[in-house]
Amino acid sequence: MIATFIIAILLAFGQHRLYKSLHHTSEPDEGKRIRVVLYGRALAYFSKVAFGTGVILSIRQRTWRALRDHAFSVWSIDQLFLATEDPSLFVNWETLGKAPIVVALALIVWLIPLATIIFSPGALTFGDFLEVSSDHLNVPTLNFTAESYKDFRKPVVIDGIKKRSLLSVNTTDVTADTEGWFDYYDKPSVDLQRVSLMTAYSLRDQSLNVEDARQRSCGGDFNCTFTISFVGPSYKCEELARGEQDDQKLADAGAPWTTAVLAPVGRLAYIADVYTGEYARPQLENLGEGGKPENITDDLGFFKAEPVLWIGFSIDSKENLTKGAPHSDTWITRYDPHVFRCVHYETNYTVGFNYSGPYFETDIKYDYLSPVINTTISRNPDTTLNNPEPATSYISPRTDVPLYKKTAAYHALGQQLRQFLSGRIELQPPIPGPFFARAYSDITMTRLVTNTSSTPKKDLIKLVPDFYADIILSFFSAPQMLVVSSERVFVNQTRYRSAFKYDALKLWACYTPVIVCVFVALVIGAWTIWEDGTTFSVGFSRIMVTTRNSTLDHISRGACLGNDPFPMELMQTRLKFGVLAEHTEELEYVGMDPGSMGLGHCTFGVESELDPIVKGRRYAGLRYPRIEAAAKLKTD
Ligand SMILES: *[C@@H]1O[C@H](CO)[C@@H](O)[C@H](O)[C@H]1NC(C)=O
Ligand SMILES: *[C@@H]1O[C@H](CO)[C@@H](O)[C@H](O)[C@H]1NC(C)=O
Ligand SMILES: *[C@@H]1O[C@H](CO)[C@@H](O)[C@H](O)[C@H]1NC(C)=O
Ligand SMILES: *[C@@H]1O[C@H](CO)[C@@H](O)[C@H](O)[C@H]1NC(C)=O
Ligand SMILES: *[C@@H]1O[C@H](CO)[C@@H](O)[C@H](O)[C@H]1NC(C)=O
Repeated sequence: MIATFIIAILLAFGQHRLYKSLHHTSEPDEGKRIRVVLYGRALAYFSKVAFGTGVILSIRQRTWRALRDHAFSVWSIDQLFLATEDPSLFVNWETLGKAPIVVALALIVWLIPLATIIFSPGALTFGDFLEVSSDHLNVPTLNFTAESYKDFRKPVVIDGIKKRSLLSVNTTDVTADTEGWFDYYDKPSVDLQRVSLMTAYSLRDQSLNVEDARQRSCGGDFNCTFTISFVGPSYKCEELARGEQDDQKLADAGAPWTTAVLAPVGRLAYIADVYTGEYARPQLENLGEGGKPENITDDLGFFKAEPVLWIGFSIDSKENLTKGAPHSDTWITRYDPHVFRCVHYETNYTVGFNYSGPYFETDIKYDYLSPVINTTISRNPDTTLNNPEPATSYISPRTDVPLYKKTAAYHALGQQLRQFLSGRIELQPPIPGPFFARAYSDITMTRLVTNTSSTPKKDLIKLVPDFYADIILSFFSAPQMLVVSSERVFVNQTRYRSAFKYDALKLWACYTPVIVCVFVALVIGAWTIWEDGTTFSVGFSRIMVTTRNSTLDHISRGACLGNDPFPMELMQTRLKFGVLAEHTEELEYVGMDPGSMGLGHCTFGVESELDPIVKGRRYAGLRYPRIEAAAKLKTD
């Protein structure tokens, strides 16, 4: 019994180990996959056999105990001996009442296969699971410092690709021979123009990227998230006016206009001043080939100021004006004017990428460092402009060339954005009508306006920097750009994989009740063996030797073939296992206590002719043949 129990647990554990070794491994070969699953089932089967064998040993022991304790009908005795093959014992009052433990143990044997063979293989399934991993990978990032060292005379070739700059330059000397030569900014490069236009025209709330960006960045067919950071330009915006009452604040800040130009007072839905202090193009008259000037002026190519974005827009609140309210003679709904200002800043970008299937999302955080050009242009009361101050902050192409070129790159980017923002959108008021918008701005080609009325979106102040960031991040769609570099970052990868999935909890949920029940069954069996002082079995030999009783010969006359159907009368005869009391008369005759002789004959018989079997007493067996015992008795 102990061995079966240990073997059964080892087999269950073997099944656990097999499943565990298969967990999250994928097996492309169908045949092999079926085979390993069958190995697991085989272990479950053998485990069932071992558990069952142990319990069956207990059942036998308990069966004989029951037969000694109570007289059963032959019918029930049959059922008790066939407990593990014939479930009719569960619906027989006699067995249920007189041998409940045997019935309970038999139930365990019947239920073990359910838990082991049927349910336990369910702990191993095959399907898609989400594999989570991580790696250090090279992902694309931006490095604007690369522009600092770009010289159009020396092409930068990396991996056979000639890297493209963000800007084109003019120079004082194409061959770079003359003393004191320098290059100065001309205009945004065609590549920058193309990328910014495509970003704007795509109308998507997202930057552009190469087709296989996910595979490239995620290190294979994964979904992944990672964060890059780089230093680049960004616009830092602040709202200066919300409603007509903030005009004084606007004047103090040096705004080029007041809210009066905007609806409802004015007729504009949108106005932008984005060219104040713009870098002049051409810088001088009579420029020669490559922008070579005849006479080089002192401030040729200087970046003196970076234009500030002044943007005013008016939003339809969709709330109807009451009769007699201001502007109700021309407008039906209330318009709220807003004015904000954005300054070009060098910014630390932190961009979280989330690649998922064919899509990706970006989460951009801005950490503003310093203005790209730290000068301001003040406005005189007569609206004329002063020179940018302070002059020490001007950026010269001759002194700090890397700073100049980086500033030029930032400026070129800003210039591309400002090209979309400049202009105005006029509104024709609904009274007397007709109501429509007239656009004189490229902003209407971008996602900064609503797709229904071509008027600016409500959260323009937030959308402008994001739109600018999208243009910048869209360089990832053009890996030939010089600013696109790579960075080694920590990438969180996930992917769906078809593989075995093993749930250890499920397996042990099947086995634990089995182990507990079998353990209890075995303890009952062991306890019974100890009480009985001997073990019992149910083979033919045991039946043969325990039915040597002339009463039984008598009863069973006429049914010697053992064929079905069996005589009903015989089936209902009640029999019990005990010590045959046939010697009683003789012993009483010689005046002896029959028990003390200890050589009684154990057999099945009718209840009235039997005495109980007592542990420790000797009964007629092979060592004490009954004949000898009888002879000894007679002699005595
Ligand atoms: C950016 O590029 C410059 C010049 O190519 C290089 O010196 C610098 O290390 C790069 N920066 C980063 C963060 O890769
Ligand atoms: C650069 O030179 C070209 C002609 O060679 C000229 O058209 C252009 O305006 C110049 N750019 C600047 C900023 O002066
Ligand atoms: C990435 O995007 C997917 C799909 O939109 C989303 O389910 C997932 O939560 C995102 N992951 C992170 C880390 O934001
Ligand atoms: C217009 O914009 C709204 C809100 O952004 C969006 O839900 C809608 O799908 C857009 N319609 C079209 C035709 O693009
Ligand atoms: C990536 O995520 C998407 C959306 O959740 C999913 O449909 C796709 O199967 C995932 N790709 C991989 C390789 O796991």
